[in-house]
Amino acid sequence: MYNIILQLHHYIAFIAVILLAYATVNGILGTTSNKAFEDSHRKINTFALIATHTQLLLGIILLVVSPLAQTAFGDMAVSMKDAVLRKAVIEHPTTNIIAAVLVTIGNAKSKRAVGNGRKFKLTMIFFGLGLLLILSRLPYDKLF
Ligand code: HEM
Ligand code: HEM
Repeated sequence: MYNIILQLHHYIAFIAVILLAYATVNGILGTTSNKAFEDSHRKINTFALIATHTQLLLGIILLVVSPLAQTAFGDMAVSMKDAVLRKAVIEHPTTNIIAAVLVTIGNAKSKRAVGNGRKFKLTMIFFGLGLLLILSRLPYDKLF
């Protein structure tokens, strides 16, 4: 169970980061030009949201089933002083929950917004911030 969830969380991480980057670049290009916000742009936002939500769900399961998290939660006073444990079970999860919230708000706001420029701008800001937060706390050593 733990291994399957960890593997899924590992590989979907690439998909989520690539889709979030794609959505953010669409947002930047759209904001700086007079392009129309097409259905394809909305779909990329939705796919990026789905990948992020899937990571959120898998991540929450990992917090329960991961031996690393169980060790860390066993003695929080010690774990908070350990940079590796603190990053894996505190900083990475909290930062990415905030990122998932931003992406969810951005997707909803951009869908409801009126006007191409506004849809692109909201996509750029919310997906971009979410991506930056995720990239700031990714365990790159485990990823590659
Ligand atoms: C801990 C797990 C999850 C939480 C807390 C969560 C939360 C949410 C929330 C609050 C929304 C509402 C957005 C809105 O009002 O526009 C939403 C939408 C959505 N979520 Fe999740 N979600 C989770 C897991 C998932 C998973 C596992 C998937 C897919 C595999 C998923 C796919 C979607 C989709 C497709 C939407 C609608 C997007 C749209 O309307 O464009 N979510 N989710
Ligand atoms: C889009 C958001 C996210 C990305 C891209 C991501 C990516 C990753 C990656 C690449 C790893 C290392 C996997 C490995 O060791 O092979 C990892 C580990 C982990 N993630 Fe995430 N994650 C995200 C969101 C979350 C969230 C929201 C939570 C919790 C609520 C979470 C909880 C964890 C935990 C607990 C581990 C450590 C598991 C272990 O080593 O036993 N992640 N994450």
